[in-house]
Amino acid sequence: MTEGTHSSQPAAGARVLSGMQPSGDSLHLGNYLGALIHWVRTQETYDAFFFIPDMHAITVPQDPEELRTRIRRTAAQYIAGGIDPDRSTLFVQSHVPEHAQLGWIMTCLTGMGEASRMAQFKDKSAKQGVDSAGVGLFTYPMLQAADILLYQPHGVPVGEDQKQHVELTRNLAQRFNHRFGETFRVPEPMIPADGARIYDLQNPGAKMSKSASSPNGVLNLLDTDKQIAKKIKSAVTDDGTEIRFDPETKPGVSNLLTIYSALTGRPVAEIEAEYQGRMYGHLKVDLADIAVERLRPVRDRAEQLLDDPAELDALLSKGAAKARQVASATLAEVYEKVGFLPAH
Ligand code: TRP
Repeated sequence: MTEGTHSSQPAAGARVLSGMQPSGDSLHLGNYLGALIHWVRTQETYDAFFFIPDMHAITVPQDPEELRTRIRRTAAQYIAGGIDPDRSTLFVQSHVPEHAQLGWIMTCLTGMGEASRMAQFKDKSAKQGVDSAGVGLFTYPMLQAADILLYQPHGVPVGEDQKQHVELTRNLAQRFNHRFGETFRVPEPMIPADGARIYDLQNPGAKMSKSASSPNGVLNLLDTDKQIAKKIKSAVTDDGTEIRFDPETKPGVSNLLTIYSALTGRPVAEIEAEYQGRMYGHLKVDLADIAVERLRPVRDRAEQLLDDPAELDALLSKGAAKARQVASATLAEVYEKVGFLPAH
């Protein structure tokens, strides 16, 4: 078994699975450039499964109507961003009850100590005080392990922040296999080497995030042309005038260069060279145009999909049926292995 960080890519035709929480009305540029465009690339080579972890979304208090809206909006943005529902299996977690069923078994397999070490739990529970945090926040990683293991994927394309959860998933898979016999494939985290880390436009020391202190720091995929241009033009830049990639001393400009590079596919060095001797303002004006042009078709397509919720729901229910075929086979084997009595 490989250990630690590995960048090994599964072979063509292998299966991958990933998901992103529907925690906002719009995905932001960090979700798009850091995750979604990589997912889109994986579906060229792999048998890809993408889902919306709506059950994870209720580990913190939710408004029911808002959640329903956000699930559809997230699905529409996956598709608008390039996930092809004919090619990949696209579904909503709560449509496949096997997630909750295997989640329980993963919970029983996990030690209190190892669960307590999960950084995302520590962060999120610290925010509301450990005693008032829901138990679901604590068992969140075990449900995530179930999400993954049900589909027997070779790889899990995620960002650096999810590595610990994938590591726990690997441990649980190995533990189960050891105790009950070979059942689960032990998946590899797939963290893109060129993964763009996008920072807050107003506070480039922090990752772009839904919980940002200022809405102007977060560029949403569904923002209007005007909002996109305004947010980029008013991005915080740094002391000095030189346009140079140096995240230590120039976090603001470096973030803009990262976004520029990710949106155009051009290397950062080439962009630096082009802007040598020019001012921050030039870079921002050009980047605003680039972002507007690049994101407009994504927003238009998402809105078109959201105009027909029945059609979108039908797509998702087709995806869930495909997902269930795989998930139910895995769960049946697991139920048998742990010693449950056959139901019929
Ligand atoms: N925890 C992930 C996040 O916060 C979302 C997620 C849930 C996930 N289940 C998953 C990601 C399974 C990959 C695989 O973004």
